[in-house]
Amino acid sequence: MTLRPANHAAAPDEIQAILEFVRTARGFDAAGYCLAVLATCVQSRLAATGVAGDGEYLRLLATAPAELDLLVAALTIKFSSFFRDPLAFDYLHESLLPALLTEKAAAGDGGLRVWSAGCAHGEEPYSLAILLHDLARHYPAAAEAILFATDRDEPALALARTAIYPAASLANVRHGLLATAFAPEGESFRVLPAIAGRVRFSVHDLLNRRSAAPAESVFGSFDLILCRNVLIYFEPSYQSFICEQLYRALAAGGCLLLGRTETLPSPWSRRLRRVTDCCALYRKSERTRAVTENAGGGVTP
Ligand SMILES: C[S@@+](CC[C@H](N)C(=O)[O-])C[C@H]1O[C@@H](n2cnc3c(N)ncnc32)[C@H](O)[C@@H]1O
Repeated sequence: MTLRPANHAAAPDEIQAILEFVRTARGFDAAGYCLAVLATCVQSRLAATGVAGDGEYLRLLATAPAELDLLVAALTIKFSSFFRDPLAFDYLHESLLPALLTEKAAAGDGGLRVWSAGCAHGEEPYSLAILLHDLARHYPAAAEAILFATDRDEPALALARTAIYPAASLANVRHGLLATAFAPEGESFRVLPAIAGRVRFSVHDLLNRRSAAPAESVFGSFDLILCRNVLIYFEPSYQSFICEQLYRALAAGGCLLLGRTETLPSPWSRRLRRVTDCCALYRKSERTRAVTENAGGGVTP
C-alpha cells in the first residue's frame, strides 16, 4: 500500500506529471523554477477544486480547459500592485531618483534609463513613471527619462498597455499622486495617458541566453533596474544566471532594486554593493566604466 500525503495532496511524481501536462498543453516550461513554489501552486488548485490526488486532478485538467487556465495563472504568479512595498518607493522618490537625475544632468549624457524586469501587469513601471512625472517639477531631467518594462508573458503586457486597474491595486498610492496620476473609469482607474505613454512595454525572457537586455532598449546600459519578486521563484543557479544578465545590462554606477524579501545570491553581493538597509538596493561599481573602457568593452566584475 502506498502512503499518501494528508488531504489527498498530489505526491511529487504526480506534481511532475501535472507540470509536464501544462508544458505540453500551454508551453509553460517549469525548468529553473523553484519546485517547492510550483508544488504549492498545484496543491492550492487541488484544494480549491476539492479533487483528490491519484491522477484525478490530471484527468480534470485534460477535460476542463477553465481549470487549466486557473492552474497556469497560479503557476505564473503575476501578483503586483502600485507602489508595492511603499518604503522602497519612498526611498526611490525622495532619495535615489533625485540623486540619479542630478548625476545624469551633471554628466549631460542623455535621459535616465530605467528597466522594470518582470513587470507583470504594469503596476511597477507605472509607479516609476508616476514618480518621475512628479519629480519633473523640480528635476527637468526627469522628463527625459526612458522607461522600459518587460515580462515573458505577452497577455500580461496586453493588460498593462490598457493602463486600467481595479481600485484594490491602488491601495498604496499616496493621496497627492492619486489625484495627479489617475482618472476614474467606471469602477476602475486609468493611469493618465501623459504618464502611461512614458512606458515602453515588450516581451523579454530573463532566461534568454542571447540577450541580457530587452531588444527594444537596443543596448541596455540601464541606470536603474527593478527586478522585484521574480528571483524568489527560481532555483539558485537560475537566480545567478538572471543576476549575471542584470549585471550586464546595468550601466557602470547603475542600481538594481530587488523585492522586499529578496537578496542577491552570495557571489553577486561582492560585485554589487548594498546601498541602504531600507530596501534591497544594490549599486554596480563606477570603476567598471574605466575598466571596460580600457578593455574595449565587455563586462568586468
Ligand atoms: C510576482 S510578479 C512580480 C511583479 C512586479 N515586479 C512586482 O514586484 O510587483 C513576477 C513576474 O515575473 C514574470 N516572470 C517570471 N519568469 C520570468 C522570466 N523568465 N522572464 C521574464 N519575466 C518572468 C512573471 O510573468 C510575473 O509577471
